[in-house]
Amino acid sequence: MADLKNNTEDELIEISKQNNICYLGVNKKPYKKTTLIKNIREYLSKKDSEPVASPASQASQASQASQASSASSASQASQASQASLRMIDLFAGTGAFSLAFQSTNAVSIVYANDMCQSSKTIYDENFSHKLTLKNLNDVNIEDLPGHDILTGGFPCQPFSIAGKQEGFADERSNVFWKILAIISYHKPRCVILENVKNILSHDNGDTFKVIVSNLEKEGYHICYKVLNTADITGIPQHRERIYIVCLKDKNVFNKFNKFNLDFPKVDKKRTTCFLEQEDTIPSKYYYTDKSSTWNLVKSSVVKKDTIYQYRRVYVRENKSNECPTLTANMGSGGHNVPIILTDSGVRKLTPRECFNFQGFPLSYKLPNLCDSNLYKLAGNAVSVPVVNLIANRIIPLLLLED
Ligand SMILES: C[S@@+](CC[C@H](N)C(=O)[O-])C[C@H]1O[C@@H](n2cnc3c(N)ncnc32)[C@H](O)[C@@H]1O
Repeated sequence: MADLKNNTEDELIEISKQNNICYLGVNKKPYKKTTLIKNIREYLSKKDSEPVASPASQASQASQASQASSASSASQASQASQASLRMIDLFAGTGAFSLAFQSTNAVSIVYANDMCQSSKTIYDENFSHKLTLKNLNDVNIEDLPGHDILTGGFPCQPFSIAGKQEGFADERSNVFWKILAIISYHKPRCVILENVKNILSHDNGDTFKVIVSNLEKEGYHICYKVLNTADITGIPQHRERIYIVCLKDKNVFNKFNKFNLDFPKVDKKRTTCFLEQEDTIPSKYYYTDKSSTWNLVKSSVVKKDTIYQYRRVYVRENKSNECPTLTANMGSGGHNVPIILTDSGVRKLTPRECFNFQGFPLSYKLPNLCDSNLYKLAGNAVSVPVVNLIANRIIPLLLLED
């Protein structure tokens, strides 16, 4: 094998380019010389036997993530053949975790699960592999494929301020123990969990202590932070969610912890950048004088740069140029529906606009589901660019320690 040590960094980058080996790390900066050499060597050694592992993080910038490349089956298949890290996506919903991790080109999704039919419909429409439709509690742990990464935005209603806050007493949160059992059996190198920020203070902080201590007992090093989509992605949606990153390897954790989950603030784009063209919006999204809430909506929704929320008996005005937190119950009963004033009148955000405010690329397909299901999927999802930031920070470290 050629002694690459004598090559300059520019030459190594050139070799990488020519062989389609990724040479860019987080923030699109070229890797260090040692990493460039390692990747090229890896490529050369695998070239004749199997496809190369590519530590690409090409969709690294959050704003670019929303323009991420098409999720066509063909390109996914070729990405999967290059990927070296295996991931399972639990409570997959829309597959936002899958989408973000897959866009690093270093990860292939080997299993996705959800028990909701609309999740299966949207997931299968957008990914080459199929989601397993099953209650996770009924899944045989031994049947799950081995994996390096486990992601899971586990049900948040038991901890949410909007719910009864019964925490672990609520049947839906029992899945945490199932996640733990899966982790204990398969020992993934990296686990990423997501939930509402209220989980931190639930039961005076005891719920969160239970979560962290049980993950630590499984041998994980933990880092967590509440991240707001509006602060770090350029997308003007106020969405504060806790992300819990668990790493098995102390070295990887130490490297990760130099930056941990701190991401720089990014200027927000205008909310209008996330709206569909007005002349394409079907009339069903507009309020008219036939709407039962017309008088309230008409008198309250008065500014064009503001997104409002209908709250049963009043309309709430949000901070200018910011979309309120999209929620799972947006579609049902008119509660929490974001409303805007445009040149054509007062209307709800469309499902596509809600997916835009979650950073899904336009290539992400919305299947023929009823609006309430689409709103629910969008409101339940993680913001894709937030997960992109996390994935682009972790993946190069996991690849280096391979
Ligand atoms: C907060 S959402 C996660 C959304 C997902 N992270 C995304 O980005 O779209 C929780 C999901 O867990 C699913 N779920 C809840 N309990 C489950 C269980 N016991 N087994 C499988 N899926 C479950 C729900 O159907 C829902 O799609």
